Amino acid sequence: MNCSNLIVIGAGPGGYRTAEYAAKAGLKVVVFEGAEVGGTCLNVGCIPTKTYVHSGSFAEARERLLTVVPGLRAGVEGILSHPNITLVKEKAEFVDAKTVRAVSSGETWSADNIIVATGSESKMIPVPGIDGPNVLDSTGLLNLDTLPAKLCIIGAGVIGMEFASVFSRFGTQVTVIEFLKECLPALDSDIAKRLRKQMEKEGITFNMQCGVKEIADGKVFFENKKGQTESVEADVILVATGRKPRVQADFAKAGFVYDERKGIQTDENFETTVKGIYAIGDVNGRQMLAHAAEMQGIRVVNRILGKEDGIRLDVMPAAIFTEPEAACVGPSEDQLKADVVQFECHKSFYRANGKAMSMGKTEGMVKLCCEPGEGKLLSAHVYGAHAADLVQEVTAYITLGATLRQLRETVHIHPTLSEVLIEVN
Ligand code: NAI
Repeated sequence: MNCSNLIVIGAGPGGYRTAEYAAKAGLKVVVFEGAEVGGTCLNVGCIPTKTYVHSGSFAEARERLLTVVPGLRAGVEGILSHPNITLVKEKAEFVDAKTVRAVSSGETWSADNIIVATGSESKMIPVPGIDGPNVLDSTGLLNLDTLPAKLCIIGAGVIGMEFASVFSRFGTQVTVIEFLKECLPALDSDIAKRLRKQMEKEGITFNMQCGVKEIADGKVFFENKKGQTESVEADVILVATGRKPRVQADFAKAGFVYDERKGIQTDENFETTVKGIYAIGDVNGRQMLAHAAEMQGIRVVNRILGKEDGIRLDVMPAAIFTEPEAACVGPSEDQLKADVVQFECHKSFYRANGKAMSMGKTEGMVKLCCEPGEGKLLSAHVYGAHAADLVQEVTAYITLGATLRQLRETVHIHPTLSEVLIEVN
C-alpha cells in the first residue's frame, strides 16, 4: 500500500490544476487518470471547439487540432511531472473511504484526503433510433473526418449553439430542434433572442418548442408547437441535450451520498457526506464549467491546508463561443425581476463604438444590472465580439463589490470594445 497526503481522481481541468496547487503547497499528491490527461475540456470539449471557431475551414480545423491538443496535453503532463505528484495512468476505484485502487494493475494508495474530479458525460434522450448510425454526441462530432452536408442538432443549449455556429460557417446546412421557447436557457432572454435571430440570418434553421419523437432512415421526426409531426433530413445528428455527472458504482464503497442524475452531494466547501472526501467540477452537478472546477479544487486544497481564501464562487462568469459570442456573469434581468430585487438595467450597443465599427463587428449589446442609483454591480450580459473579455472585466468589479459609478469612473483605453461598458445609458 502506497501513502500520500492527497489522492485526486481524474486529470481534467479540476483535477490537474488542484494537483498542481496542492503539490506547490507541499502536499504529496497522487493523480489517477484512466484516459488522456486534460479531460473533456482539453481533449473533446472547450479546446477543440475553440480551435474550430478560430479556423477558416473544416479541413484547417482538423489540421490545427493535430498540434493544438497534443501541445496542450504535453503542457499538462509537464505540470503533473512536479516532484510532489505521482501520476497513475489508470482508472481508479474506491476500496474504502481512505483507499483507492488502480483498476488494471491493482496498485493501491491511501490518503486522508481524496478529491473526486471524474467530470461528466453526454446525456442521450430516450427516443427510438437514438442508437442509430450517425447519431453522435459532441465527442463523436469532433471525431468526424468529413464535413457533413446536413447536420441536425437536438438541443439549443451551449453545445448545440456553438456547434450550430461553427458548422454553419464551414458550409454545412444546420437545423436545430429545441424543446423550449428560447435558446440558451441560462442567458438573458433578450440576448438569447438576438443571438438566435442573427444565427437565423446566417442560414441556420431553428425549430423552437419542438420535441423529438423518433430518429429513423436519416430523418429526425419531431412534434411542433401545434402538435403536428414534422421531419428534418440529416447526414449527421448531434444530440446536445445536456450532460450528466460521471459517477461509478464503486463510489458506494466510499460511503458518500451520490445520485446518477445530480452527481455527488457536497456542502459549500465541496466536501461529500464522508469527511475527507471531496467532489469538484462536473461530477458534483453544480456548475459544469472548467473554470468552476479549477476554483472549487483550489478552495478544497485551501481547506485541507487550513487556509482562508477570498474566492467568490458565487460570481461565476460563463461564455458561449458562437459567432457573435455571448457571455454573462450574475443573474439575468428576468431572474432579478422574478426574485423581486430592486435594480436598474443599463444598456449600450456595439454599433456606436469606434473599435466595433473599425472591426466591422457592430452587432452586439451590453446589459449591466446594478443596485439603484448606479450602485453595486449585480450582473453583466453581453452579446457581440469578445463578449467574454468584456464580461471578465465586470466580473472583477463584481468580485470586489464595486458600483456601476466606479466602473464608469475607470479610465478605459480608446478605442476598445470595453468602452461599450462605460457607454451604457
Ligand atoms: P444545456 O443544458 O446547456 O442545453 C441542453 C438543451 O437541450 C436545453 O436547451 C434543453 O431544453 C434542450 N433539450 C433537452 N431535451 C430535448 C429534447 N428531447 N428535444 C429538444 N431539446 C431538448 O446542455 P449542453 O448544451 O448539452 O451542455 C452541457 C453542459 O456543458 C452545460 O452545463 C454547459 O454549461 C457545458 N458547456 C459549457 C461550454 C461553455 O462554457 N462555453 C461549452 C460546452 C458545454
